[in-house]
Amino acid sequence: MSSDLLQFTNVVKDFGGNRVVDGIDFTVAEGEFFTLLGPSGCGKTTTLRLLAGLEVPNAGEIVLQGRCLAAPAKGVWVPPDKRNVGMMFQSYAIWPHLTVFENVAFPLRVRREAEDVIRRRVGEALELVGLEGLVERGATQLSGGQQQRVALARSIVYTPSLLLLDEPLSNLDVKLREQMRTELRALQLRLNLAVVYVTHDQGEAMALSDRIAVVNEGRLEQVGTPAEVYEHPSTRFVGDFLGRTVVVRGTVRKDGGRSRVAIGDKGEVGMPADVGDQFQDGDSVRVLARPEDVTLERADAAGPNRITGTVEAITYMGDHLEYTVQAAGRSLALAAGKKDRYAVGSEIKLVFDPANITILR
Ligand SMILES: Nc1ncnc2c1ncn2[C@@H]1O[C@H](COP(=O)(O)OP(=O)(O)OP(=O)(O)O)[C@@H](O)[C@H]1O
Ligand SMILES: [Mg+2]
Repeated sequence: MSSDLLQFTNVVKDFGGNRVVDGIDFTVAEGEFFTLLGPSGCGKTTTLRLLAGLEVPNAGEIVLQGRCLAAPAKGVWVPPDKRNVGMMFQSYAIWPHLTVFENVAFPLRVRREAEDVIRRRVGEALELVGLEGLVERGATQLSGGQQQRVALARSIVYTPSLLLLDEPLSNLDVKLREQMRTELRALQLRLNLAVVYVTHDQGEAMALSDRIAVVNEGRLEQVGTPAEVYEHPSTRFVGDFLGRTVVVRGTVRKDGGRSRVAIGDKGEVGMPADVGDQFQDGDSVRVLARPEDVTLERADAAGPNRITGTVEAITYMGDHLEYTVQAAGRSLALAAGKKDRYAVGSEIKLVFDPANITILR
């Protein structure tokens, strides 16, 4: 992409003998909201610290706006204060001896902005995070959530080329988190700000991001839009990490007509139109689907793309029913509306939509 603002190329970081960032590769476009999503300890914070200049990479290259910030092979290293990068830390380091106003004003004072500019921008930033009433409050007299919002205000008050946010909403209660999420996205779009966001919360990643990079043990498993990574996970890890999956094993059948996956003797599922070429007749594969993309039908209802299963249990979930279905040697959890009732022990059909499945080896 020619409009790439950031190129993070093959970056490696070791701590002692431990490889924490293992050849991570991604780009971020102007105005893009890019999220690193992964479990605890997978290297998300370390990746942000490498971007901010708080860690020195062992190998690779980091280029922002065409300017090389770090490249050990070339002996290039730009210190943090010479990078045009804003960061909000996971432990939102705010200064206890300063007021809310002075905490937020700090990056502007460092840049020697005029007093009236400081007043206006701090006011805007505090309003944005809902703290406009607490301007003169001392930072120690704030709740954890309020301190986090001060840190967020401080990270956006000076508009950097790239904003790094490390789990900025994790200390807020659910309601406020959702509100802040919406406001954060609106602000980012309004300022056309490029963001690298870190979270282990898949819902948050889905709601906020233009693209998501799923990180596992210091590597990127998959990079794509929320819909791409959710609906077409490229690995089992991505599928599981982004939500619940239904997985059944089968065998590719290419004899005549369209490619299909035979699920033992329980039925067949058509392959997505674009992947047939990647598999040979007889290949052993897994079919991945989201529970909401698999529908239940009576055992005697005929049609394609269905396999037979047996109802093991039914759980009443208030607004829907959850069926535990034994099919293809597995126990699968599937949701269904309350109108469809299938008795425990009865045979049932699971209907797959070839447009909404992923085939993995
Ligand atoms: N300064 C350091 N020295 C040694 N090991 C470190 C250092 N910083 C991080 N690590 C290790 O690197 C790994 C990745 O840490 P990192 O903080 O990047 O994970 P994370 O993905 O942000 O996790 P979390 O979601 O828990 O914040 C961990 O195993 C951590 O213990
Ligand atoms: Mg972290």
